[in-house]
Amino acid sequence: MAYFLTFLLTSLFVGNGLSRLNDLNTVESYMNICMLGKQHKSSPGPEKGLTSKICSPWAARSCCTEDTALDIHTNPTWLNFDWNHCGPLSAQCREHFIMDSCFYSCSPNVGPWLVKDVRKIRKERFKGVPLCKPVCDNWYEACKDDLTCTDEWAQNFNWSSGINKCPQGSTCKKFSEVFKHSSVKFCEKVFGSFKVVPESKDGTENCFHLWFDSKFPNPNEAVARRRAAEILNVEYVQIEGAKLKDPNNAISLGPAWGLSLLLSFLQTVLFKSS
Ligand SMILES: *[C@@H]1O[C@H](CO)[C@@H](O)[C@H](O)[C@H]1NC(C)=O
Repeated sequence: MAYFLTFLLTSLFVGNGLSRLNDLNTVESYMNICMLGKQHKSSPGPEKGLTSKICSPWAARSCCTEDTALDIHTNPTWLNFDWNHCGPLSAQCREHFIMDSCFYSCSPNVGPWLVKDVRKIRKERFKGVPLCKPVCDNWYEACKDDLTCTDEWAQNFNWSSGINKCPQGSTCKKFSEVFKHSSVKFCEKVFGSFKVVPESKDGTENCFHLWFDSKFPNPNEAVARRRAAEILNVEYVQIEGAKLKDPNNAISLGPAWGLSLLLSFLQTVLFKSS
């Protein structure tokens, strides 16, 4: 009975994300947490299957499973979200949203920015994660000529059919028009998750990358550790290897991208004809 009660209470509290975020009291506790989401792991760990660029940056330490990573790359309506709500997204724009989806599901570094949320797909979300301005600019550039009908994708869609549809009275316009020609407005508003910040001049990691070469250490970890130390008002201790940086910070999904497109195309065709 006592066990049952403990279980019940734990489920209640963890279930609505009440107590656990307030209980984070060490830097490590912020670093060992995954968002409470439908497909997130309970804590970060290695995922050897995240190879061939399928959410590959997070192979060493991930909050997503291999299945989720594969789903992101191949399922055109992952989490019932229709990217093509105003017609098909361009391949380059879709590629950036895939990187963002990988980041959303796999990044083990968002602990310091978690807040409660109440949705079917998650009980927590991250908010105000510092995104490097050049990363945001690239994302916006890739999407600015694509079409959408609303600026806040987490809020404004009509979900009554189970999948996001454009709100009544809206029209499909170029991203550049919807986001008023501002990369910052786009990155901060589209999912309400990021705060765009300029990269520091002295090379200190002060902002996040959506993607990096898995041969290099995760550049976001130092940023998260620094923020956790700041929240807890303790001294920031730099971790080993944090200085090893990918000189290009190359952002490309490479050949696997073509495969994903093909798979997603086949899936759409097969799905439609069955
Ligand atoms: C949502 O879409 C349905 C049709 O699918 C419509 O009946 C309803 O009025 C829409 N709701 C809003 C708030 O636009």
